[in-house]
Amino acid sequence: MSEKKRILSGMRPTGLLHMGNLHGALLNWVNMQEQYDCFFFIADWHALTSDYENTLLLTDYVRQMMIDWLSAGLSPEKSTLFVQSHIKEHAELFLLLSMITPVPWLERNPTYKDQIVQMANKDLSTFGFLGYPVLQAADIIMYKANGVPVGIDQIPHVEITREIARRFNYLYGEVFPEPDVILTKTPKILGTDRRKMSKSYKNTIYFSDSPDKIRKQVATMITDPQRARKTDPGDPRVCNVFEFHKIYTDQQTVERIEHGCCRAEIGCVECKKIMAESLIEALAPIREKRAFYSDKPELVEEIIMTGSQKARKVAQRTMEEVRSVIKI
Ligand code: TRP
Ligand code: SF4
Repeated sequence: MSEKKRILSGMRPTGLLHMGNLHGALLNWVNMQEQYDCFFFIADWHALTSDYENTLLLTDYVRQMMIDWLSAGLSPEKSTLFVQSHIKEHAELFLLLSMITPVPWLERNPTYKDQIVQMANKDLSTFGFLGYPVLQAADIIMYKANGVPVGIDQIPHVEITREIARRFNYLYGEVFPEPDVILTKTPKILGTDRRKMSKSYKNTIYFSDSPDKIRKQVATMITDPQRARKTDPGDPRVCNVFEFHKIYTDQQTVERIEHGCCRAEIGCVECKKIMAESLIEALAPIREKRAFYSDKPELVEEIIMTGSQKARKVAQRTMEEVRSVIKI
């Protein structure tokens, strides 16, 4: 048996995945599949912590997310892909961890304070929202993960996880490793309006978008804001379109665009057209796989069930150990 290190990460099912998610997380996960024993899950209970009022679309989002994952290259053979709410053990561990987690640790959580302000339109004064990191800690230590690949925004949550694991081990005996953050390096790609790509800003390019939709979205992209006319030279270094070119267009064309832009020999309209075609071509395999899985809901369901079964076995073993050390 190989002794690969175990990693775990999750995503809340809040809608279709976009290029920001692809480069911010998913491709990174896909690449880690060879090197690590990977657990990736859809955090549907976590989605409820802020969206408890809108549950209508949740099951559909979960299925769509699994389709997005599979299309981008996550493999049920290589990794354990599952859905949080299918593993009831997470709820039990969450409850037990909540007994030993001091409330000030949660109140101090910068993400918590941020979100309350940012989502002022929602009533987030709930117990569940405060306890978000405790549930996340349960997710992580349930599988005794050594590493958690996440973006910087999640560092405080992994920190709290480490503290909770340490406290558990101190109180009941060494059961859990303290997981490390594996920080995801992300390219500087932004939304079409140059803000962070996010569904709520409507500045997204979904990797499930049709070629025509991609062309339209790319056409709306803000380029070098200093470049008002085609006769003005542009600066590719500050241009979001160019960031996409660097990832998706062949090296030779990228160089031609770079020179052409700086010397006002190529206009943004043409430049964007080239980029849109590169992107459409690069996303073709994902689009094809998406069409394949979208046509086969039973297959997706089966992948979710099989992955969840695999995860549940591990979770059950951990919970036996947990109950035994707590003596309950
Ligand atoms: N909080 C994470 C996010 O919003 C999602 C998540 C839930 C998670 N449980 C996790 C990530 C466990 C890593 C590990 O992105
Ligand atoms: Fe950006 Fe291309 Fe316009 Fe230059 S020509 S500013 S790289 S879109």
